[in-house]
Amino acid sequence: MNARPDAFLPWNRPSIGDEEIAEVTDTLRSGWLTHGPKAIQFEYEVREALGQEDSFAVSSCTAALHLGLLAADIGPEDQVITPSLTFCAAPNAIVQTGADPVFVDVDPDVCNIDLAAAEAAITNDTKAIVVMHYGGHPCDLIAFRKLADDHGLILIEDAAHALQASRAGHRAGSLGDLTTLSFYANKVITSGEGGMLLGRARLVERARLLGRHGIDSSVWQRHGRRSTADYEVTVPGLKYVMSDIAAAVGLQQFRKLPAFTARRREIAEMYTSELAGLPGLVLPTVLDGVEHGWFLYSVLIDPDACGRTRDTVSDRLLSDHMIGTSCHFRPVHALAAYDRHQPRSCLRGAQKMHPLQVTDRVAGQQLSLPCYPAMTDGDVMRVVRALHTVLS
Ligand SMILES: Cc1ncc(COP(=O)(O)O)c(C=O)c1O
Repeated sequence: MNARPDAFLPWNRPSIGDEEIAEVTDTLRSGWLTHGPKAIQFEYEVREALGQEDSFAVSSCTAALHLGLLAADIGPEDQVITPSLTFCAAPNAIVQTGADPVFVDVDPDVCNIDLAAAEAAITNDTKAIVVMHYGGHPCDLIAFRKLADDHGLILIEDAAHALQASRAGHRAGSLGDLTTLSFYANKVITSGEGGMLLGRARLVERARLLGRHGIDSSVWQRHGRRSTADYEVTVPGLKYVMSDIAAAVGLQQFRKLPAFTARRREIAEMYTSELAGLPGLVLPTVLDGVEHGWFLYSVLIDPDACGRTRDTVSDRLLSDHMIGTSCHFRPVHALAAYDRHQPRSCLRGAQKMHPLQVTDRVAGQQLSLPCYPAMTDGDVMRVVRALHTVLS
């Protein structure tokens, strides 16, 4: 066994530079801390890049999902199709509106929501489909756009993993009626906590109203023009806006996104060439026409091929090599809160099948390796050597 290195290599670490610090200092000195000029500029730059009609910077991706669903009038008696192999944010937001999440399986190659399974799950009560670009590999956007249009459904892109990724020339986040982004601390860019809702002007405008208490104008719009108390509440809303302090960080991070993504790609390429052929290790697939965002470098550990489980491998990486890893995800249908949302078994050929077979298999084998711009080539090779030791 290799000597135990003394410094812990975390699964993820943000890259914050002098530019973010200067922008935050500027904000703190400006006298305007809540949603204002920095948030509006951040919304503008992201909206321009994604080619969406409107954008609203909010406190998290979860807030963006909740507001987007409410703005689309989704509520009790409605069904929303979502993968189960995702973070609980989208299903939780669906349940919070009173609608039912309908879990469908993912495809085995890139772990994105399966198109045929999504189509088979559509009923008269279906109002929307949430697609999630797993790890930064975009879904088949054109196919999902067509599916939504054919059935009169709202297409929501949960692009929390895929701020800079594309498929067949279409950028992830550009084709949904609504798109949600996360700037949580471990995402491709961060504002500490934060998110954004983008999409059709009518829906985002409604979400903006709902996300600032239902008040008909923002405090920044009223600042210096009207009394701060001169407003009307036109609908009972929530409070989900992003502060300008967070937006200052996000704005500078967003300008670095192309460089961050290029470094993520270099790391992914190093892993792919150095880990090829290790027994039991299934490396990520990148489909033709895809520019991967590499939020995750996601591998599968096949216990039948290497005699070790994913949990043994991650435990040994931590205990013997001080390397952090993560798992994406605990499937939502298996979480305690979702006991009553179990998917019905379905018929495939003559056989009765559990409909989330791929999800359950992937959830037991998937491991996310460290992959972020702050990693040096030496850090990457440390992970490579450790995996060779653990798996050989
Ligand atoms: C796919 C996906 N959607 C949504 C979220 C929620 O993001 P936030 O923490 O900004 O609400 C996450 C967070 O990890 C995620 O992975």
